[in-house]
Amino acid sequence: MNGERVKMGIMGLDDMLGGGLIPGSICSIIGTYGTGKTTFSLEFAWEGLKKGENVIYISLEEREERIVTYMQQKGWDVKPYLNRSLYVIKLDPTDFNLANNRIKNELPKLIEEVKAHRVVIDPISLFEDLFTTDFERRQEMFRFVEGLRDKKCTIMMTSETDRDNVFASRHALIEYLSDTVILLRYVRPSDLTDVHLALEVVKMRMSAHSREIKPYELMQDQVLVYSEANVF
Ligand SMILES: Nc1ncnc2c1ncn2[C@@H]1O[C@H](COP(=O)(O)OP(=O)(O)OP(=O)(O)O)[C@@H](O)[C@H]1O
Ligand SMILES: [Mg+2]
Repeated sequence: MNGERVKMGIMGLDDMLGGGLIPGSICSIIGTYGTGKTTFSLEFAWEGLKKGENVIYISLEEREERIVTYMQQKGWDVKPYLNRSLYVIKLDPTDFNLANNRIKNELPKLIEEVKAHRVVIDPISLFEDLFTTDFERRQEMFRFVEGLRDKKCTIMMTSETDRDNVFASRHALIEYLSDTVILLRYVRPSDLTDVHLALEVVKMRMSAHSREIKPYELMQDQVLVYSEANVF
């Protein structure tokens, strides 16, 4: 598919994606704790803001102020964008009815109201946890994601990995629902001297992409993907 790509704002990774995400597509970032899911989401949001786009950032973990503080600590002046083109929303993942209503009913309306170009949900796995049966989760998540597809915005969802499988999301569901899947993980070399972070683009519908596993580092103000280096 040709045309302008939606850059994540992470050099090296955008190259691996063939220039960036496909506009209007859904991307999931899957990784265990501390691998940088929130950092990648913030980069994606900031990249949009810098381009004059409207961004909705839904956090199921951290309060609104914390998200804004994280961005400021990176040296990004986000205050002028707040509630003008950046909408940060904390969603309580313990109240099923409230979270369900806000995600399923209010979010699609908000996307239209503010004409969002980019939406982040970090992490969607806390929302998925709320369903009592696999059947209900599958059905509801499918409906939710299909509803988002009608919107024009590009969506990034993050998920923790499954406890027993670092290659799968917590409920092994969003990788099937997403167009693009990026996997983040720790790599522990056999000499056990230090731990590296490595990422791969596992899937990208309608696009060629890199299948290489590349090391990356989370820095104070940016993510560095070493696209010339090899992990193994
Ligand atoms: N200022 C910084 N400079 C360098 N590295 C940092 C800095 N801030 C955070 N990090 C690194 O980023 C990691 C946290 O990244 P992040 O919060 O994006 O991960 P996450 O995958 O969202 O984690 P969780 O699953 O706990 O939400 C820290 O463990 C640390 O290694
Ligand atoms: Mg996080």
